Amino acid sequence: MKKLLALVLVLVMALGAVRAQSGQLEIFSWWAGDEGPALEALIALYKAANPGVEVINATVTGGSGVNARAVLKTRMLGGTPPDSFQVHAGEELTGTWVVAGRMEDLTFLYEREGWFDAFPKDLIDLLTYDGGIYSVPVNIHRSNVMWYNPAKVAEWGIEVPATWDDFLAICPTIQAAGVTPLVVGEAWTVNHLFESVALGVLGAEGWNGIWTGAVDPAGAEMVAVFEKFGEILACSNIKEDAAGLSWQQAIDKVVNGTAAFNIMGDWAAGYMVTTLGLTPGEGFGYAPAPDTSGVFMWLSDSFGLPTGVANRDNTVAWLALLGSLEGQNAFNPLKGSIPARVDAVDAAPDLYNDYLKSAAADWASNTLVGSLVHGTAANERFMGDFNQVMEIFLASGNANAAATAMSVICVQSGACGG
Ligand code: GAL
Repeated sequence: MKKLLALVLVLVMALGAVRAQSGQLEIFSWWAGDEGPALEALIALYKAANPGVEVINATVTGGSGVNARAVLKTRMLGGTPPDSFQVHAGEELTGTWVVAGRMEDLTFLYEREGWFDAFPKDLIDLLTYDGGIYSVPVNIHRSNVMWYNPAKVAEWGIEVPATWDDFLAICPTIQAAGVTPLVVGEAWTVNHLFESVALGVLGAEGWNGIWTGAVDPAGAEMVAVFEKFGEILACSNIKEDAAGLSWQQAIDKVVNGTAAFNIMGDWAAGYMVTTLGLTPGEGFGYAPAPDTSGVFMWLSDSFGLPTGVANRDNTVAWLALLGSLEGQNAFNPLKGSIPARVDAVDAAPDLYNDYLKSAAADWASNTLVGSLVHGTAANERFMGDFNQVMEIFLASGNANAAATAMSVICVQSGACGG
């Protein structure tokens, strides 16, 4: 296996040497600071294969791309696109930049690299628009994960809740210990919690039904989602320090035992392993978000090729590396995600820790549904306007008003089928 990896690396280096010898490559993402190590590992591989290329790692801090997407928009509209940028597979890619004719079709690269068998067909479908394929996926992340500190959970004498009702039942016990039962952070992390709660209340079919039009966003089911969400938030720090916490700071509170649980995507596993040096199952525990066992709410980070970039050849070499076996196996063990390639974990199982092995097993066996907050399920118009729905709910606590507002943005964005 080592020989195979070495051979593949040599081949990639040779390809890179032919295609990318000089000039620059600007990569744009929100993987700054302690979100950075996985991307930096990829950049190191790229530099080794393309020593003549100056790589500009342009990052805009802010979890889930809240700030980066705004900067990207200015650059794309202003005609100065980065050579390649991070974008979620699904509507965030196709409904924003592809539909506007601002991305190059990468079918040639998929053919050249033999990627039609390397990536799951359903994933390629989400990168496809009008017969073209528009980005290269580096990973699969899971959104619906509950994180906790096993030693603290034992100390407080509680069980990890399998349902939201279980959570609400132990909430007073946790509060009595002077601990926040569920920690949330800045606004997008509240939306992130919401998508797991909605999935739990509606089930996979109901969640998908929002996006196909089968579920009425103003109807009783959605009102029930907001009601449950309100009860859960009452057991959180939403009225205290939430707005000032990044997702990492929220996770820190779980790790240091000032909060019991947090719902976050599995980049949290990357942070706890790569940055904090914790061991999955020991330093931190994980479970599906309550009421979502057997369902994997997924998203995928990908990179594409905008039209008219300054360094096209260097970018194509970058994209080839991202989709390669060794690219995926350099990136994902550090990132807390599993490879998008179907063959990567088996090619190097020792690189993947227990959390990642469990995520890979769940990805292969669970019901899969797309994330809203991370670009898979709905277009950016809906994603943006959903912030206002949440503001209405947080200010009023009125589940009916929130569901009605949601039905309005459904119509305006066209994101909810029907
Ligand atoms: C997601 C992204 C992840 C991670 C996370 C937190 O949208 O897909 O890779 O970066 O945001 O910033």
